[in-house]
Amino acid sequence: MKNVVKSNVKLKCISCGTEYPPDPRLYKCRKCGGLLTVEYDFSKAKISWNDFEGRGVWRYKQLLPPSEQLYDKTVTLHEGDTPLIKLENLVTQSNVYVKFEGANPTGSFKDRGMTVAVTLAKHIGSRLVIVASTGNTAASVSAYASRANIKSAIVLPRGKVALGKLAQSILHGALIFEIEGNFDDALDTVRKVVEINPEIYPLNSFNPWRLEGQKTLAFEVAEELGVPDWVIVPVGNAGNISAIWKGFKELYELKLIPKLPKMVGVQSEGASPLATAFERGLDEPVFVEKPETIATAIRIGRPINWPKAMMAVKESKGLFLKVSDREIVDAMAKLGSMEGIDAEPAGASSIAGYLKLLEQGVVSKKDKVVCVVTGHALKDPDAMLRISVNRIIVSKAEAVETILKTVSQ
Ligand SMILES: Cc1ncc(COP(=O)(O)O)c(C=O)c1O
Ligand SMILES: [Zn+2]
Repeated sequence: MKNVVKSNVKLKCISCGTEYPPDPRLYKCRKCGGLLTVEYDFSKAKISWNDFEGRGVWRYKQLLPPSEQLYDKTVTLHEGDTPLIKLENLVTQSNVYVKFEGANPTGSFKDRGMTVAVTLAKHIGSRLVIVASTGNTAASVSAYASRANIKSAIVLPRGKVALGKLAQSILHGALIFEIEGNFDDALDTVRKVVEINPEIYPLNSFNPWRLEGQKTLAFEVAEELGVPDWVIVPVGNAGNISAIWKGFKELYELKLIPKLPKMVGVQSEGASPLATAFERGLDEPVFVEKPETIATAIRIGRPINWPKAMMAVKESKGLFLKVSDREIVDAMAKLGSMEGIDAEPAGASSIAGYLKLLEQGVVSKKDKVVCVVTGHALKDPDAMLRISVNRIIVSKAEAVETILKTVSQ
């Protein structure tokens, strides 16, 4: 174990506070079943921004779990280091940026987590990894497992995974199980499988080691832009918003940043257990039995990381909000046609959320805002084709000329 995870790291239950040694195979509290989080003892650490070297996720290796011995044995496809793009046309004279996670190797933020978790899985000798997925986790896990020469099994809700994501998993050679049911049912299946077969390594976001990689988004934003006033994140199973918040908190603890941002979690109206709870002032989510939305990546009714996400929003004095499918498609179309940024529906929900908050006056144009665009548009061609556009059938060059003359006037 000493060789795999650093000595200043432990696991802690977020519900009862029980602490554990940093076992990469421990995913829930043995006492109460609660979620675990990775904690570092930074009391002796003297880290400055100048200490970070290299690019992407592993630039921040001092703040990641694998031991020094593994630094040159990471399972990587050069993830992270994604573009931070200031919006210029969609909202003018504002201070809003897109953190474009579609630029990761498999086209979503999941790669940040997989490089860390699959590195650990490989070095503890896992031969088979498993995930439930709405699509992007499957695409990412299957790629990183292939890279590590490990087998991957994925469990998908049948008929509800965007085409590009399913195709990626096929390309990477995953063993694909499609179940009748939704993502929440798929996740229940995975939890049962790993309980009975502990040698199979789960890579869903209840695995706290995976979230360690995902927190590096906060490091990149803080290093490039300073601390935003708001960070807006699409929320499904609620791991990413928790990881990003953890990243900012660690920087604050290390005195690398002077303040913290407010976190906003965006959910789709048809799959909004956390946003509904927020609206009603409840401390627990209002689970949705049959979630439905065009943003299939966040079509989740029972988010497993809800306690962490609620804590992130509460501690940061942020909020959860809902956007409709129409607002999502509209934001996706605007982002593509006015800024040239390719977002899948779930990814564009952060922009839909931003536009709504701007309209409501909760966020002002002067505020420094980062919208996390979590996945690439190419993943979901069907969603892109729903955008209305002029497609003109022509048989002669003259017809093109005639039409263009009227357009350019
Ligand atoms: C594109 C995209 N956005 C957002 C999410 C939600 O992330 P989380 O489940 O960590 O809340 C997902 C999860 O699959 C996703 O694929
Ligand atoms: Zn516990």
